[in-house]
Formats: sequence, structure tokens, C-alpha cells
Amino acid sequence: MGRLDDKIAIVVGGGRNIGRATSKLFATEGAKIAIFDLDEERAAAVTEEVVEQGGECMYVIGEVQKVDDVKNMVTKVVDHYGKVDILVNCAAISDRSPMLELDNDEYHRVIDVTMNGTYYTCKYVSEQMVKQGKGGSIVNFSSGSAFQGNTRRVAYDMAKGAIVVLTMDMAAQLAQYGIRTNAIAPGQTGSQVGGKIAFEDRHSNNLVGGRAGYPEEQASVALFLASDDSRHLYGQTLQNDGGSSIV
Ligand SMILES: NC(=O)c1ccc[n+]([C@@H]2O[C@H](COP(=O)([O-])OP(=O)(O)OC[C@H]3O[C@@H](n4cnc5c(N)ncnc54)[C@H](O)[C@@H]3O)[C@@H](O)[C@H]2O)c1
Repeated sequence: MGRLDDKIAIVVGGGRNIGRATSKLFATEGAKIAIFDLDEERAAAVTEEVVEQGGECMYVIGEVQKVDDVKNMVTKVVDHYGKVDILVNCAAISDRSPMLELDNDEYHRVIDVTMNGTYYTCKYVSEQMVKQGKGGSIVNFSSGSAFQGNTRRVAYDMAKGAIVVLTMDMAAQLAQYGIRTNAIAPGQTGSQVGGKIAFEDRHSNNLVGGRAGYPEEQASVALFLASDDSRHLYGQTLQNDGGSSIV
């Protein structure tokens, strides 16, 4: 018996890193997976990995910040699997310069993907869950960046702060439909978000645990939040960060 038997899980940004680890772990717990990602090569590769380990997986290509892509994704998943029970939101991009140097177009792009994209998938997937009438569980990825000032980033941090608030609002509004919403705020994990800095090159000062985290260590917390193990938890953002937020 798996903890997610008979569940259909959409993993947004499931093409690599934390989304990939989440897709693979959820499948081993009995969930059928639908990956939504803009990168077909990545999505197809993870789909193959899930199938190779004995799971069931499909993918839909699209961009989270495009409402039509998100609606199309929900339709395709429901056409294929008949329903959706779990949503995990991993897609994000980050800016890499201080506010005084940040181009406004870049600012809007990061907010659009990272904040609006999360909002759209939450909105249209939970709309489907409400229609089904059987509840659901939604896990958003915020970031430690939502709680600390940073010298070289701003739009990403703002979007991640907004996701903490979105998570509380959704928890308050959707509990009546049996839908729980929680979030994870990772510290440094795997490779850099949307970038090229590899795991082994990430600096690990201020990490009580002494090292950056593995994507699998985010996936296991996502599993806890997605499953009934956390059935009494609503609107929380868990700081899963090797202790960096407590020192
Ligand atoms: N990795 C970290 O150190 C870290 C730290 C804090 C928070 N997080 C958060 O955890 C989540 C996962 O992070 P990650 O490191 O696995 O990210 P990643 O950049 O490695 O992977 C993101 C995935 O999302 C997809 N994606 C990007 N933009 C998209 C769009 N517009 N539409 C659809 N798909 C899109 C990418 O193709 C990719 O497969 C993110 O929300 C991130 O902000 C990560």
C-alpha cells in the first residue's frame, strides 16, 4: 500500500530537480503522475523514468503564466486520468540582480512566471477539484527567499513571499471543499533555480545541517503535505532548509 494509492498528481515544473524527484517519489507511493512543464525534452525524460520504475506518467507541455496553457493542461489531465487529486507547484524562474539594476521587463517576466503562474495553476486545478467534490491537496513551493533580504535579487523574493500568502488564502477559502493547501520554503537544494550552478558548487554557510539539500529531501516533505499524514495542516509554509532560517 502506498500513501498516494489511486491519487492523480499534477507536478508543475516536473521536468527536473525538485519536480523530478517529487514525480518519482509520488509514483512509488501509488500516484499517477501528470507533468506540466515548458521543456518537452525534460518532461519526456522524467516521464520515461517514472514508467521505468513501474509507475504511470503523462506530460503536457505549456507555460504556467499562460492561462490558456494552464486550462488546456487541466483538460488534458482530466481527459486522460478522469480526475485530479494533488497539485505540486515547482515551476519558477529567478532574477539575478539588485533592484537598482533590474530591468522592468525582467521584473515582470519573473513575477509573471513565478507568482502569476502559481496562481493560475492553483486557481484552475482547485476549480476542477471543487467540481469533483472529493477534496484534494495542493503543495506550493515558496522559498527561504520569502523571509530574508537578498543583495542580488528582488522579483523572485517578492513572488515567493506572495506564494506564502496565497497558500494561506487558499487554505482559508478551500477548506470548505476538503482541499488543503500548504507550502514548502526550501533552502539551497540541488542545482540553482532556473540556472546553471550545480549542487556541488552551492555554498553552504549558515546551514545548520552542514550542506545544501537534495531534491529528494524536498520531495519527501511534499509527500507529507500531499498525503493524509498532514490532514490537520492548513496554510502552512514549512522551512525545509537545512536549518539556514534559524541561525
Ligand atoms: N533549488 C533550490 O535551491 C530552491 C530553493 C528555494 C526554492 N526553490 C523552489 O522550488 C521549486 C523547484 O525548484 P527547482 O530548483 O527544482 O527549479 P528548476 O529551475 O530546477 O526546475 C523548474 C522546472 O520548471 C520548469 N519551468 C520553468 N518555467 C516554466 C514555465 N513558465 N512554465 C512551465 N514550466 C516551467 C522548468 O523547465 C523546470 O523543469 C521552485 O519553485 C523554486 O523556486 C528551489
